[in-house]
Amino acid sequence: MPAANQYAHHQRLEQEVERPRETFIWALFMKLSDIIKSRISTRSFLDKPVSEEQVRGLLDIARWSPSGGNLQPWRVHVVMGDARARLIETVKNAIADNPFADEAELQIYPPKLADPWRARRSNLAEEMYATLNIPREDKAARLQWLLSNYEFFGAPVGVFFSLDRRFDKGQWAHLGMFMQTLALAAEEQGLATCMQEAWTARAKTVSAFLDLGEHEQLYCGMALGFADKDAPVNNWRSTRVRVDEFTSFIKE
Ligand SMILES: Cc1cc2nc3c(=O)[nH]c(=O)nc-3n(C[C@H](O)[C@H](O)[C@H](O)COP(=O)(O)O)c2cc1C
Repeated sequence: MPAANQYAHHQRLEQEVERPRETFIWALFMKLSDIIKSRISTRSFLDKPVSEEQVRGLLDIARWSPSGGNLQPWRVHVVMGDARARLIETVKNAIADNPFADEAELQIYPPKLADPWRARRSNLAEEMYATLNIPREDKAARLQWLLSNYEFFGAPVGVFFSLDRRFDKGQWAHLGMFMQTLALAAEEQGLATCMQEAWTARAKTVSAFLDLGEHEQLYCGMALGFADKDAPVNNWRSTRVRVDEFTSFIKE
């Protein structure tokens, strides 16, 4: 499907999953369901600081996430201020030295992603690049955009999540619950987030920077800050399949 058509398709779906308008009144009366629907992956942030106290407050909420056996397997590493600038510089240098990923300890996607997931992934990319006005042929601009992941899309705070390597798949799911709770807590407070698996491509560099112990495996980053609400990339909503496409009701 050509990019323009995909975009039209997206806009049709968007009406079904309309993002609540974030007005002052809305903020006063918002429900959890509003917060869930208004959270998006924010990919352009204001140059406006977030205090350590506020980040601590968010983590203080997220720690109430459930985990099997109450293991609370998550480890969180907050990078802000000068450390954020140093990390960005360190990773930039690492990319210049070796444009290929550090290593593939963690595969973000299976090597041969099958449909429908492959199509969903490429639809997302096409819709995002259409919003950004970056055509498919402009590989340099697309690469540049990808690299903005490694600047947290301008967010003043970077949060990293790691797990002990001895954990199994269950604990990875529990970490996911923690991350979503954190993102929703941020949303409630007028902050914005973007989870960033992109950092796993630089896991070695980031792990060394964070001084992770040998048992710690880096999973993911999260950009945290105030959204630039005027940026077109923040004024677009990714689509979702309908409930019946992923749910079976077994009744008899
Ligand atoms: C664990 C995780 C990692 C992600 N990593 C990235 C990333 O590295 N860069 C990025 O731009 N988006 C990333 N995303 C955002 C997804 O593309 C996004 O969640 C998905 O398209 C749904 O859109 P929404 O979050 O705006 O609702 C990530 C999302 C999750 C949940």
